[in-house]
Amino acid sequence: MKIVTYTDAWQQDLIDLWQACGLTRPWNDPAKDIQRKLTDNMGQLALMLDGDKLVASVMVGFDGHRGSVFYLAVLPAYQGRGCGKQLMQYCEEYLLQLGCPKLNLCVRDTNVMVLEFYQALGYEPDPVVLMGKRLIPDN
Ligand SMILES: CC(C)(COP(=O)(O)OP(=O)(O)OC[C@H]1O[C@@H](n2cnc3c(N)ncnc32)[C@H](O)[C@@H]1OP(=O)(O)O)[C@@H](O)C(=O)NCCC(=O)NCCS
Repeated sequence: MKIVTYTDAWQQDLIDLWQACGLTRPWNDPAKDIQRKLTDNMGQLALMLDGDKLVASVMVGFDGHRGSVFYLAVLPAYQGRGCGKQLMQYCEEYLLQLGCPKLNLCVRDTNVMVLEFYQALGYEPDPVVLMGKRLIPDN
């Protein structure tokens, strides 16, 4: 297994991975999400490969105050083997070398299994309400 930075040759495989992991939503165009992430100079879109097969992904970013993680996805056949943990460690090391003091992440409240995964890695719920406003509709 190795972790590499995204290039456009992986676009369709990455979208397929996100779909297989149930991460796509009608209001988020995954191709646009990928292209927007490539404009982020303080962030990275990282892929985990098994040989030449894409098996996992993560988006990491730093806004100068907090770090964030999105689109953490491990192909179902590869789940439970430490890939998610390894990618989260990769993100934490990436943010630490930028001097980022805290990583925040969002989990859909229906995604109970993932809450347990993050808690196993030392993450705790913060007493905040996430508020959002869509600025660019994708569809
Ligand atoms: C969530 C996800 C990334 C976890 O990846 P994974 O590779 O299966 O997890 P790992 O094998 O690395 O597990 C790491 C640790 O978390 C623990 N863990 C994983 N799932 C768990 C669960 N449901 N309950 C409790 N602990 C769990 C593991 O036991 C392991 O602990 P250990 O290191 O002590 O053995 C993966 O299940 C996934 O892609 N899910 C679908 C997409 C998704 O919901 N992404 C998150 C969006 S916020």
